[in-house]
Amino acid sequence: MKRVGIIGVGKYLPKRVLSNRDLEKIVDTSDEWITTRTGIKERHLVSSHEAASDLATNAAKEALKDAGIKPQDLDLIIVATITPDMQFPSTACFVQAALGAKNAVCFDISAACAGFVYAIIVAQQFIAQGTYKNALVVGTEVLSSITDWQDRSTCVLFGDGAGAAVLSEVKSAAGILSTYLGGDGSMADLLMLPGGGSRNPATHKTIDKRLHCIKMQGNKLFKLAVKIMAEAAQIALKKAGLKCEDIDLVIPHQANVRIIMAMAKRLGLPSDRIYVNIEKYGNMSSASTATALCEAVRVGRIKKGDIVLLDAFGAGLVWGACLIKW
Ligand code: ACO
Repeated sequence: MKRVGIIGVGKYLPKRVLSNRDLEKIVDTSDEWITTRTGIKERHLVSSHEAASDLATNAAKEALKDAGIKPQDLDLIIVATITPDMQFPSTACFVQAALGAKNAVCFDISAACAGFVYAIIVAQQFIAQGTYKNALVVGTEVLSSITDWQDRSTCVLFGDGAGAAVLSEVKSAAGILSTYLGGDGSMADLLMLPGGGSRNPATHKTIDKRLHCIKMQGNKLFKLAVKIMAEAAQIALKKAGLKCEDIDLVIPHQANVRIIMAMAKRLGLPSDRIYVNIEKYGNMSSASTATALCEAVRVGRIKKGDIVLLDAFGAGLVWGACLIKW
């Protein structure tokens, strides 16, 4: 098996910013409530001409530049998204065309907020086996397109954005050390988009019932997220023969700063070992972990030789963790 590492990262946030104060004018909420309950201050939103593949393509271009490879060098593109441009073809196909990555196989992964971690681990398998050489993995979301702007319990949480990583074989001791994926479909009802699929095809009725918007039971998810993300971290550490204190930085899914800090407490990790950027972007589902990873590299929070943990949890339920020596 070949050793696989991340050789480039990129991110893209749409220009438009919606602050908590702006939200006060849309629903019955307050900057104070949103900040203390979630840690979010503002989020980026697409303009009317932008779709998930546009954000993904911009993030991908930055990641390719960072990796020093050309689009034609890619032989695999995986896009993790729950807000694809269309039901089909896959958003990965649109990204492939936009990049001119004509040699790449392309497909999407639907694993909600854990999508980027799922996609990284799938790409790793292909490269480790020698099937493909250079993989582009993107987490991209336009959650504003499925947000119920009349529901204050959810509309304050989400944002749009994209993050990307290029994976390849690495010859040094760096690279992915261990991985862990999990799932439990029996709790699918805690977070879903009921309308628009084959269960509830789009009709006037499904629109009137707001079935094309996110439905979430936040309280139950909160407790599960803390427990499951902490357990996923411990399993990935055990697989790599490492301990919590060996981690230099955790890149957790950014759903709620209180979830992130409760998870850190369970792991016995100080807050300076946890990367948090939710205040600027809100929850961007698959794009959250991807964007946070890129940002942590850019601001120097991740240095060569650091042990980094990607840890995410989302609708499905699905979760995953990936330990990387940078
Ligand atoms: N502004 C003001 N008040 C609000 C708002 C708002 N935006 N939203 C809810 N409230 C009110 C509620 O109506 C409720 O009022 P009541 O006590 O009079 O009934 C009160 O605030 C408390 O509501 P809770 O839902 O209990 O608040 P909680 O502290 O649980 O915070 C939140 C809600 C932020 C959604 C939290 O539960 C959470 O973050 N859950 C996890 C969400 C998550 O992880 N989701 C996704 C994981 S997967 C993915 O990322 C797609």
